[in-house]
Amino acid sequence: NDNKGIIPMPRHFLSILDLDKDTAHALVKRAKEMKECDFHSDLLAGKTVALIFEKASTRTRVSFEVGINHLGGNSLLMTPAESQLGRSEPLSDTSRVLSRYCAGMVVRTFGQEIVDELSHYASVPVINALTDMYHPCQVMSDMLTMYERTPDLANLKVAWVGDGNNMAHSFINAAILFGYELVLACPEGYDPDPNLMAHAKAEGARVTLVRTPEEACEGAHYVNTDVWASMGQEEEQKQREAAFAGFMIDDDMLAVADSEVKVMHCLPAHRGEEISEEVFESERSIVFDQAENRLHMQKAIMEWIFSE
Ligand code: CP
Ligand code: NVA
Repeated sequence: NDNKGIIPMPRHFLSILDLDKDTAHALVKRAKEMKECDFHSDLLAGKTVALIFEKASTRTRVSFEVGINHLGGNSLLMTPAESQLGRSEPLSDTSRVLSRYCAGMVVRTFGQEIVDELSHYASVPVINALTDMYHPCQVMSDMLTMYERTPDLANLKVAWVGDGNNMAHSFINAAILFGYELVLACPEGYDPDPNLMAHAKAEGARVTLVRTPEEACEGAHYVNTDVWASMGQEEEQKQREAAFAGFMIDDDMLAVADSEVKVMHCLPAHRGEEISEEVFESERSIVFDQAENRLHMQKAIMEWIFSE
């Protein structure tokens, strides 16, 4: 065998761009199947997955812990306050040490370069559980949430209203794989990464940036938003509230959308800022299905990663 003596590279999931079209579609179908049969297995029996969380989390942390449990494994939470991560131990050392104990690492942190570096030194898989740049597990779950209602994702118009942030970036990347039209309305100064937009367009994705929420919402089947100040940007809250004036998703804004429009938010949400209380609590809001689907999608992602 040509590979004799060569240590295989672990499979990482750091960005939606790590997936090809077939894998991305297969993961959505597999997650739906797993949801329908309340899938449990012993894939991770006797194994421990480290959850390295440098930022707060409710959904991601709990859904990973529960998902790892459904796959027969154990999880272990590491935070900077209670590990040497907070005392500047190099990532390269942390990664090589954890690789000797754990089957994988699920990492929520700041810069994308942190997960890149951890994965570079890891001999086990690394999964991105949110960086400033991307939130790939959330957006793959959101693909499942849309697919359950409207399986032909390539025929949808999806609106993004708000900050051109980590969530927006992963929706841009996913547009390459799933083919939906994505129109992002961002106030000037809060655009998504232009290189990512250019890359998506070069790959044939239908992604456009506009300045008014109405343009984005016109005929949209799904309208998505997220907080105006992400984790790490708390001190910009006031300035962002001013910049995002007029960007709250409310009934008036949705009047131009498709009559069956659904509203999405990865949560946590700030009612009265990016989304009105009425819309959040309305039949059009599918935010708790999105939250549930984190569990099912991450089980599918872990099966794909750990069956390697
Ligand atoms: N949507 C999401 O990632 O939520 P948490 O920050 O609670 O994990
Ligand atoms: N954009 C948000 C998403 C939270 C799940 C943040 O990064 O804080």
